[in-house]
Amino acid sequence: MSTSTTKTKVDLLISPIKELVTPHVDHGPARGNSLAAVRRIKDAAIAVKDGQIVSCGEREDVLRSVDSEHARVIDAGEKLATPGLVDPHTHLVFAGNRHDEFAMRCQGKTYAEIAAAGGGIVASMRATRGATVSQLVELGRARLRRMAEHGTTTCEVKTGYGLDKQSELNMLEAILVLSKEQKVELVPTFMPAHAVSPGDDRNRYVNEIIEDMLPAAATLMNEKGFAASDLYVDVFCDEGYFSLEDTKRIFDRALSLGMKVKVHADEFKSLGATKLACEAGAHSADHLLAISDEDIDHLAGSACVAVLLPGTSFFLNLKEHAPARRMIDRDVAIAIGSDFNPGSCHIFSLPLIMGLACLKLGLTAEEALSAMTVNSAYAIGRGASIGQLRDRYQADIILWNVEALAEIPYNMGWNPVAAVIKKGECIT
Ligand code: NIG
Ligand code: FE
Repeated sequence: MSTSTTKTKVDLLISPIKELVTPHVDHGPARGNSLAAVRRIKDAAIAVKDGQIVSCGEREDVLRSVDSEHARVIDAGEKLATPGLVDPHTHLVFAGNRHDEFAMRCQGKTYAEIAAAGGGIVASMRATRGATVSQLVELGRARLRRMAEHGTTTCEVKTGYGLDKQSELNMLEAILVLSKEQKVELVPTFMPAHAVSPGDDRNRYVNEIIEDMLPAAATLMNEKGFAASDLYVDVFCDEGYFSLEDTKRIFDRALSLGMKVKVHADEFKSLGATKLACEAGAHSADHLLAISDEDIDHLAGSACVAVLLPGTSFFLNLKEHAPARRMIDRDVAIAIGSDFNPGSCHIFSLPLIMGLACLKLGLTAEEALSAMTVNSAYAIGRGASIGQLRDRYQADIILWNVEALAEIPYNMGWNPVAAVIKKGECIT
């Protein structure tokens, strides 16, 4: 038998690639120095079969190891290749917009002042309650299209603008429809505990979430062909929103239904949610502007990923940012997300967020890439199959119109994405 007959027949070959840059970590997310220790291969190639990478590395080695006779070939001789970007934190399903709040903020009003004046999450709740599921799907579809064009290949999406049972289930249904009908891979999160609607009582609402809404979300997941274990549950644990005790009770119920948990923690005030997240086995604790040194140590000793959202501080015009360097120094696994939402961060572009991660959090381009690929994949439970360019990983690949990785954060506001490949298919 000739050797060629034993070679895997691939259906896509990206060759040549000017330079391939990818995180390369074997067990769990990148921590400490390994965040910056990306693998760089000049004159590279990637071979793909059935949406999976079967060979990836120096061009000659890849060409020797596979049968690409019938493969579609993409010439990336002038492009940089990285893994697809993974956004681990978005609120992309909503109706209406809050440009009026942006204008108020430009005149010096804070997030809390705007919320107290009837804006904030509750403003988006009113608009979202007025929309049908198909209107929410349509709005989400257009946003996901734009996100894909900017390199997002996987994206977590939260409910949280319904704030009553039916409206929250409508949001979840819209997310599930979107996850089936378009190519960006979605990770659904149920977040009725995002705020309490005006006139409602917090304790009553938390009881309803626990007794009625979480089981109803599990039922909807099953009805739509998903499992309860595909769903995350998130809580906004902060002053004026939900308490640590509320969060613990909601976590307990979600976990007992087989769901996974994550939390908005320490955004404005530290209530202890980060420690709770570590103890409860949460996959991530997000925001963390007000995190204590003690909680940094809790994160370092756990599998919980710290999802940092520099776009939010920027969009809220805050001076404070999450202490990313301190976390990296202490071996916390950090990821970066957009927090794309209508109020506190109306930014969906991950290349722009990468620029902010470098400028405002002090990350290098290499650290930011790891934080937005492998580590964000771990933050949403996908670290074993996405976030790295290597054999047996999903073929989620971005080709960039840049010569060097550092040009991505540098090119803030211009979209340097040339092509987006999701599961081996060009989607832009
Ligand atoms: O992640 N922090 C809580 N929730 C969002 C804000 C959502 C909104 O203002 O609509 C956030 O920043
Ligand atoms: Fe958020």
